Amino acid sequence: MSVSVDTAVLRTPASPPRRHGTADEPLPVLGNDVLAPLVTGGEVYYAALDYAASAPVLRRVWDDLAAYAPYYGSVHRGAGHLSQVSTRLYEESRATVARFLGCRPDDEVVFTRATTDSLNLLARALPEGTRVFVFETEHHASLLPWRGRHTTCLRAPRTPEQAVAALDEALHAAPAGPKLVCVTGASNVTGEIWPVRELAAAAHRHGARIVLDAAQLAPHHPVDIAELDVDWVAFSGHKLYAPFGAGVLAGRPDWLRGAEPYLSGGGASRRVARRADGALDVEWHTNAARHEAGSPNVIGAYAVASACRALEEAGFDRLVRRERQLLARVLEALADVPGVRVLSLFGEEAERVGVLSFVVDGWNSSHFAAALSAEYGIGVRDGMFCAHPLLRVLLGGAADEPGECGGVSGPSGASGAAPEPGERSLNAVRASFGAGTPDEHVERFVRAVRELVTDGARWSYRVEDGRCVPTDHPAFP
Ligand SMILES: Cc1ncc(COP(=O)(O)O)c(C=O)c1O
Repeated sequence: MSVSVDTAVLRTPASPPRRHGTADEPLPVLGNDVLAPLVTGGEVYYAALDYAASAPVLRRVWDDLAAYAPYYGSVHRGAGHLSQVSTRLYEESRATVARFLGCRPDDEVVFTRATTDSLNLLARALPEGTRVFVFETEHHASLLPWRGRHTTCLRAPRTPEQAVAALDEALHAAPAGPKLVCVTGASNVTGEIWPVRELAAAAHRHGARIVLDAAQLAPHHPVDIAELDVDWVAFSGHKLYAPFGAGVLAGRPDWLRGAEPYLSGGGASRRVARRADGALDVEWHTNAARHEAGSPNVIGAYAVASACRALEEAGFDRLVRRERQLLARVLEALADVPGVRVLSLFGEEAERVGVLSFVVDGWNSSHFAAALSAEYGIGVRDGMFCAHPLLRVLLGGAADEPGECGGVSGPSGASGAAPEPGERSLNAVRASFGAGTPDEHVERFVRAVRELVTDGARWSYRVEDGRCVPTDHPAFP
């Protein structure tokens, strides 16, 4: 393994070759050797099965950041050596991300805080009168930024073909003028992959543009902006094994250049002058800097670029193959456990990434997730996953039925006894995994589900501040 392009500017001694694991091994990540307490006594290596929320840090990313740390300096605003190094690293990180996403030559790569930030930025850049089209199945990050615009929220389709047909029909009926479609690449609830290429073709057929929410797709699957023919892509570093709070919006420059800066301040402005009448004249940058006011997050951007390189070098063929094996193992095992229902919009044949949600007869999902953690050291997520309309479709809830985004809902209230078995609640358990997941985590998870369903929990639980926690145990306050 050669030293990465970006660290070449650091003038550090060449890093030793890094092991990326063999074809059948997971990529090295931090955290797989952390011990978690068990409520029944002892400790166990923590099994992080919540990659869809925030993925563990790739060892490779951590090493790159450690090599850069002594060179850390201001970006675009310093004459000194470390400022020069940091500025170069930041801009090279942009180029690395552009390559990772297969950007077209004139595409812009804007560093943001995460997917939510990226989509809000784009929402602010829409030309006057833009009509927006989304499906009700979206994560709130791609559902809500368009509020205040003329937004059409399409019903949940039950097949990929229905999705394309519904979009086609809605766009056909729309009046002339700018239009934007926002669609997720892979659902953060079901893990199902959406027909992005076909949706993009439908959008373009009707003169609309399309932004791909790749928060859950990019960590698991190659995303090629030109090949998918989408206009923009948004994703989050922290879901792509890269901590420190950077995200990306990449794509067509014209709407971004035509918009007021997302944030006003230094870095976004090329020239500022006081006019004779006391007003300010501002000339804004026309490149990505226009929307990156303030001191750039160079560590975050470099972490994203390092993760992109690590995934490219490992090869998505291999990552996808391994993840499919883990997914098949989980789905097959869960199908054998009575009372477990894996949630799906598109049905059993749908292609998925390593994300799945399920409900268990007789269990509140928050209770089930708490038992997985306390009794098996397995970290999953429970709740409505910031996709309330989709959960209502999948669980058959009424549009006005309350639910909670991560926590207990229903009559048991905010604090008190554990939810009654079978108490009606609009929540589910989500397990998600990826490039750093060892087989053992998946094996432990399927064993835990089987045992909990067959034998029940071995500890008692109560609700505290809306979350289920073990009763009376010092390690679980
Ligand atoms: C599909 C999808 N889109 C957008 C987001 C928002 O990402 P972030 O919280 O990193 O802004 C998430 C987060 O879970 C997601 O799963």
